[in-house]
Amino acid sequence: MIKKAVLPVAGFGTRFLPASKATPKEMLPIIDKPLVQYAVEEAINIGINEIIFITSPEKYSIKKHFDKNQDFEDRLRSSGKDEMVERLNPGIFTDVKFHYVNQNDQNGLGHAILQAEDIVDGDSFAVLLPDDLFFSEKSCLSQLLDLYKRVDASVIAVNKIDKDNIHKYGVIKPGSIDNNVINIEDIVEKPNKVDAPSDIAVCGRYIFKSSIFNFLKSTGFDKSGEIQLTDAIKILLKHEEVYAAVYTGEKFDCGSKQGFVHATIALALRDKSISNDIEKIIKEII
Ligand code: G1P
Repeated sequence: MIKKAVLPVAGFGTRFLPASKATPKEMLPIIDKPLVQYAVEEAINIGINEIIFITSPEKYSIKKHFDKNQDFEDRLRSSGKDEMVERLNPGIFTDVKFHYVNQNDQNGLGHAILQAEDIVDGDSFAVLLPDDLFFSEKSCLSQLLDLYKRVDASVIAVNKIDKDNIHKYGVIKPGSIDNNVINIEDIVEKPNKVDAPSDIAVCGRYIFKSSIFNFLKSTGFDKSGEIQLTDAIKILLKHEEVYAAVYTGEKFDCGSKQGFVHATIALALRDKSISNDIEKIIKEII
């Protein structure tokens, strides 16, 4: 029932310079898979079949990555490496339509989502921020979809964050709480520690009713000149119920170097083909 997902990937990736100079930050790999592919797979695995990248012309390698590469596939097959074909051209991409919309001005996350309005075309849709990488038996988006189906309203994934890091996130003011489901009363983008309405932060997965576009349009620029998605949700809350699902599972913030390296080590230790060697290497280093 949710068939479209929006992935904002137009950002400059300044924190990852010089790696992000010629390679989009989202294409940097965690082991052998670009970061953005983890989010794309998470979306496809809940039944999404249209992925809308909000991107920039500089980032053409993202399109190249999701296009089928038939020549390479033929070469792999003729050299007997058939088992690699699934890694090159994953079967789950076959029936997926990938859209690429350029965000000409870098005016923030809310502005990025607005660029998808025509393609979303009145449907409810998911938003995935690829910097947030989740690992759990049931994916973060799948947990969120369960809630969406129950409440038939816009829903946001959240998790608890220690107060010293709360200023990096959108933070909700919870209303009634029932079994990991929170009726959101208010939301604020990146509050100071002392002003934060709770320790419950927005992580990068959302499912929206298309009404969010109306509120994005009436959201003004914040003091840094950006249109914040969180500010649009704040207005949405005056008109509609919005719920949060407390995500259960692991989360890596790959927008920071620490989180990116953490995810790399964690995944390397889980990858049976290299885990023994990596464990030995880590022990030697320590
Ligand atoms: C964005 C959102 C913020 C959210 C965060 C999750 O911030 O604006 O509300 O908590 O993603 O990762 P960013 O990390 O892009 O600064």
